[in-house]
Amino acid sequence: MESNRTGRVGFLAHTLKRFHLTVVFLCLCVLSAHSYECPDGCVCEDSSVICVGIGEIKLPLEVSSRTQNLTLQGYTLANLTERAFSPNGTNMELRALSLRRNNIHVIESCAFCGLHGLQTLDLSLNYLTILSPEAFLGLGDLLNLFLNNTLMASGAAQLPSALSTHSLRKLYRLELAGNGLKTVPLHGFGNLDLTTLVLANNTLETLDKTNISNFEAFKKIRVYLSTNPFRCECEHKEFYRWLKNSSQCADASGVFCAHPDEKKGSLVEKMVCKSSDLDAVSYVFLGIVLALIGVVFLMVLYLNRRGIKKWLNNIREACRDQMEVYHYRYEQDSDPRLANVAV
Ligand SMILES: *[C@@H]1O[C@H](CO)[C@@H](O)[C@H](O)[C@H]1NC(C)=O
Ligand SMILES: *[C@@H]1O[C@H](CO)[C@@H](O)[C@H](O)[C@H]1NC(C)=O
Ligand SMILES: *[C@@H]1O[C@H](CO)[C@@H](O)[C@H](O)[C@H]1NC(C)=O
Ligand SMILES: *[C@@H]1O[C@H](CO)[C@@H](O)[C@H](O)[C@H]1NC(C)=O
Ligand SMILES: *[C@@H]1O[C@H](CO)[C@@H](O)[C@H](O)[C@H]1NC(C)=O
Ligand SMILES: *[C@@H]1O[C@H](CO)[C@@H](O)[C@H](O)[C@H]1NC(C)=O
Ligand SMILES: *[C@@H]1O[C@H](CO)[C@@H](O)[C@H](O)[C@H]1NC(C)=O
Repeated sequence: MESNRTGRVGFLAHTLKRFHLTVVFLCLCVLSAHSYECPDGCVCEDSSVICVGIGEIKLPLEVSSRTQNLTLQGYTLANLTERAFSPNGTNMELRALSLRRNNIHVIESCAFCGLHGLQTLDLSLNYLTILSPEAFLGLGDLLNLFLNNTLMASGAAQLPSALSTHSLRKLYRLELAGNGLKTVPLHGFGNLDLTTLVLANNTLETLDKTNISNFEAFKKIRVYLSTNPFRCECEHKEFYRWLKNSSQCADASGVFCAHPDEKKGSLVEKMVCKSSDLDAVSYVFLGIVLALIGVVFLMVLYLNRRGIKKWLNNIREACRDQMEVYHYRYEQDSDPRLANVAV
């Protein structure tokens, strides 16, 4: 009787345990099935998800939070809003996010929030027109940012403030090729960790004094400048000097003049300018020397004032003597004349 009861209780407990296990197992199955579900039109393998422009896609994409590489290409995403890649506010483990050719026009504040581990972000071949100053917020691990052939004029104008964020403190490679840039769209590099800045294939005509001194102050940076229509008219000599005498331009042997016509195709680093800076310096120097001579002359005059006074007195006296002699002669000579008149 006793043993029978124990047996029944044991059986019940056993069944319950099995039931529990089954439930847990089922739950696990459902969960893992959910997190490994591959979105329509995408290929998912290992920790990569690649979606290439089939149909439409809705952001944020529901992919496993363990995905490391996510590539979307050929969609019309238009507007990346807050947390566009972090479903339900979960943090993703993405390392690389490639968004080439997706017709993106707008990146709003915090669009990439939730991607703390992102190291590479490629936004090339879009049409960025509006870029929030907080577009790159939360990308504290970002190392590479590719913005090739993607900035419209207004996007380029908004880039400097978007890059000023302290979030990008680890950024070491920034590619801005093919954006029709006329200036370097960065206020400075202090908040970044840049070693490579690609500005090739833009419409830069020169780099001014500020740009050069910013580069020189940031020693480890290497700048790529080939395929820009540089103007070689000796108006910014710091630029030529920097190209010649610094190793900071990594492709200096591919940096050519485009203007004026007679310089077209020659290397910018071979520019020789008659140095009017030096002329100005030598004029100033000459002026200073002349002024010094003048001062010395005046001092000599001042120190010798007694001697000079004496000397002047001597001259005056000599003159007076001479005058007296003359006067006397004159008086003597006048008598016969008077006599003549009298006669
Ligand atoms: C992610 O992509 C990079 C190159 O973009 C590649 O080197 C790496 O192996 C990829 N990682 C995975 C998990 O597929
Ligand atoms: C981007 O989309 C959001 C939500 O759809 C909208 O509120 C916002 O105005 C859009 N931004 C721009 C610049 O169009
Ligand atoms: C996000 O939330 C929606 C509903 O709010 C849910 O259907 C979906 O499974 C959630 N996704 C993740 C990854 O948690
Ligand atoms: C633009 O960015 C890509 C990364 O997608 C890079 O591989 C390529 O070299 C860049 N293009 C130019 C012209 O620098
Ligand atoms: C240079 O940039 C222009 C757009 O400004 C683009 O059309 C062209 O393909 C780029 N050239 C190369 C070699 O990347
Ligand atoms: C380069 O010079 C331009 C024009 O003076 C300026 O707007 C830009 O901020 C400068 N950028 C750097 C990094 O010096
Ligand atoms: C060239 O660079 C060196 C240091 O790299 C510097 O000492 C020297 O003054 C520079 N020369 C000119 C003409 O700028």
